[in-house]
Amino acid sequence: MMMVFARVRLVIAAIAFFIFAAAAVPVAAQQPNSVDPNADAVHEQQLLQQLNRVQGLGSIPDTKSYVIEQPMGRVWRQFHEVWLHWIGAIAVLGMLAVLIVFYLARGMIRIESGRSGINIVRFNAFERFVHWMTATCFIIMAVSGLNITFGKDVLLPLIGPAAFSSWALAAKYAHNFLSFPFTLGVILIILIWIAENIPNRVDVEWFKRGGGMVGQDRPPAYRFNGGQKGTYWIVVLGGTAAAVSGYLLMFPFYGTTIVGMQLAQVIHGVVAMLFVAAMLAHTYIGTIGMEGAFEAMGEGTVDLNWAKEHHSLWLEEEMARTGPDKLRRQPSATPAE
Ligand code: HEM
Repeated sequence: MMMVFARVRLVIAAIAFFIFAAAAVPVAAQQPNSVDPNADAVHEQQLLQQLNRVQGLGSIPDTKSYVIEQPMGRVWRQFHEVWLHWIGAIAVLGMLAVLIVFYLARGMIRIESGRSGINIVRFNAFERFVHWMTATCFIIMAVSGLNITFGKDVLLPLIGPAAFSSWALAAKYAHNFLSFPFTLGVILIILIWIAENIPNRVDVEWFKRGGGMVGQDRPPAYRFNGGQKGTYWIVVLGGTAAAVSGYLLMFPFYGTTIVGMQLAQVIHGVVAMLFVAAMLAHTYIGTIGMEGAFEAMGEGTVDLNWAKEHHSLWLEEEMARTGPDKLRRQPSATPAE
């Protein structure tokens, strides 16, 4: 009796299996291009090619996590792993090469008439604080950001996985937290210097005459010359673009979709590389590129002859506004003959 029941159960199970299998065939046939999404994972590539994305169902409310592969993801990966590396390497190393060649060809731009031994105030303490706060954040953010792009390829093989992961973690925290004083710095830079950075006809003339970079020509300029105004707008626009795209990356999917996140990352990466290249040029001219320039932001004063040669219109304005009150004799200076 038991044997008969067992056989009947087997027959019913077999019939049920065939009915189920027969019903399943048309369902599979209804899938676009006859791909069975339930097929073995080996067929994932075929599924991807035919449906253009691999997507399933999940148990958590975030439906974005159900998407496993989608075409824009591969374009983004290509950008992130290949193109951004090229853009960064060409921009940063290219700028370094240009600056080295320029330095070898031109050397330091000297104060032609020598130092006068008398200084004039150029930047007050608050201006210098804002400059150095923003610059310090920028340098750390540039190094920590470049580590995200290049660290895996350049540093990891040199220092090994343990040291690299500790460094990369610290760098990532620095990148995130310094974004706040950096953003504050950019906002303050916009506020304190915008009025003096509106381009005018004097700047056009300054550029036409090579900005004092070529030959011994010293075209007149107000407080900021055409080149400095260019740097200012790079900081304002680059800083704003880096901050907006950076916060979108830092707070993912707040108002952004996957495509929005990818776009933010592309903008952030490209702006960052160009920004670093531009700031290398700015740092060059403020240090080894021009005699007497660093002290403007270092001590807040410049030599009177430096001011005459590089910012003659500003010097005239200052003299008319405050008279000689702003001038300070350098205790240790030997005046030019
Ligand atoms: C408010 C300002 C900024 C914020 C909020 C910010 C935020 C971020 C975030 C969240 C990431 C992604 C990190 C990750 O993938 O784990 C990132 C990447 C990056 N950041 Fe920033 N950042 C800011 C400014 C800057 C600045 C000023 C620079 C350059 C000087 C910079 C350079 C980079 C670079 C090169 C990357 C790596 C790009 C990549 O390979 O994906 N960032 N940033």
